[in-house]
Amino acid sequence: MNQLNTYNENYKNKTPLDIVKFSLNEWGKDICIASSLGVEDQALTHMAVMLDPNVRIFVLDTGRLHPETYDVLSETQKKWNVQYDIYFPNNQDVEDMIQKKGINLFYDSVENRKKCCHVRKVAPLKRALKDAKAWITGLRRDQSITRNQLEIFEWDDTHQMIKINPLANWTDSQVWEYINQHDVPRNALHEKGYPSIGCAPCTRAIEPGENIRAGRWWWETPEQKECGLHIVDGKLVRKEKGRENK
Ligand code: ADX
Ligand code: SF4
Repeated sequence: MNQLNTYNENYKNKTPLDIVKFSLNEWGKDICIASSLGVEDQALTHMAVMLDPNVRIFVLDTGRLHPETYDVLSETQKKWNVQYDIYFPNNQDVEDMIQKKGINLFYDSVENRKKCCHVRKVAPLKRALKDAKAWITGLRRDQSITRNQLEIFEWDDTHQMIKINPLANWTDSQVWEYINQHDVPRNALHEKGYPSIGCAPCTRAIEPGENIRAGRWWWETPEQKECGLHIVDGKLVRKEKGRENK
C-alpha cells in the first residue's frame, strides 16, 4: 500500500509520541489501542491519554490473567480516569472447549494452545476491532524473531485495517526510561522477572540473559510463540524483506 510506505518513510525517525499524535489526529474516533497492561502498552496509554483523555483503549480479558494485571488496570483507570473497554471470550465457546479438552488444555499440544488463544483472545479481538479503521499495539521489533521485520504502519489483512506499532524501533530500555520519567503505573509482575505479560498459566518469570519472551509458552519453540493476535500475511513469522513467506 503506497500510502503506508509514505507514512513509514515520514515517521521512521520520529518518536513514538509523534506517531501516536499523528495517528490520533488522522483516524480520530476510528482508532483504538490494544492494551495487555504490559510496560509497552502502559507507555502508549500515557502518551495517548495525555493527548486525548477520551481515546479508546481496550483490554482482552481472557479470564486467565494475573491478579497483578487487574491491579495495574484498576490503578491506571483511577489515576488517569481511563475508561477501558474490556472484552471477554464467548462463554459458550469457553465452556465447550474446557468440557472437551480440559481446563489446562494448552499444556497438552500446540493445537490445543492455539485453540485456547483463539477462543480467549483472537475471537474477542475481532469484536473489539469491529468498528475501527486503525489499531495501535505495543509490538517492538526486538521482542522476538517473529517480530524483527515489523513496520510502524502496517496493513492488517485479517482485520482489513491499518495497524500501527509506534514502539517498533524502541528498545526495552527506552520504554523503561519513558515509564520512569513520566511515573507511569507499572505491572508488578515486571519486578518479579516477567518482562512480557500474558495469561497466568502460560507465562513464567525469565532467568537473567534469557530472551524477553522466553517466559511465554515456554514449552514451545520460538517460532510458535504467537497467540494469533498478530498474524501477517497469514503467517506468524515475518520473513526477511524480499524473501517469500514459506
Ligand atoms: S501476544 O500476541 O504474544 O499476546 P504480546 O503480549 O507480546 O502479544 O503483546 C503485543 C501487543 O498485543 C500488546 O502490546 C498489545 O497491543 C496487544 N495485546 C496483547 N495481549 C493483549 C490483551 N490481552 N488485550 C489487548 N491487547 C493485547
Ligand atoms: Fe489460553 Fe494460554 Fe492463550 Fe491465555 S495464553 S488464551 S490461557 S493458551
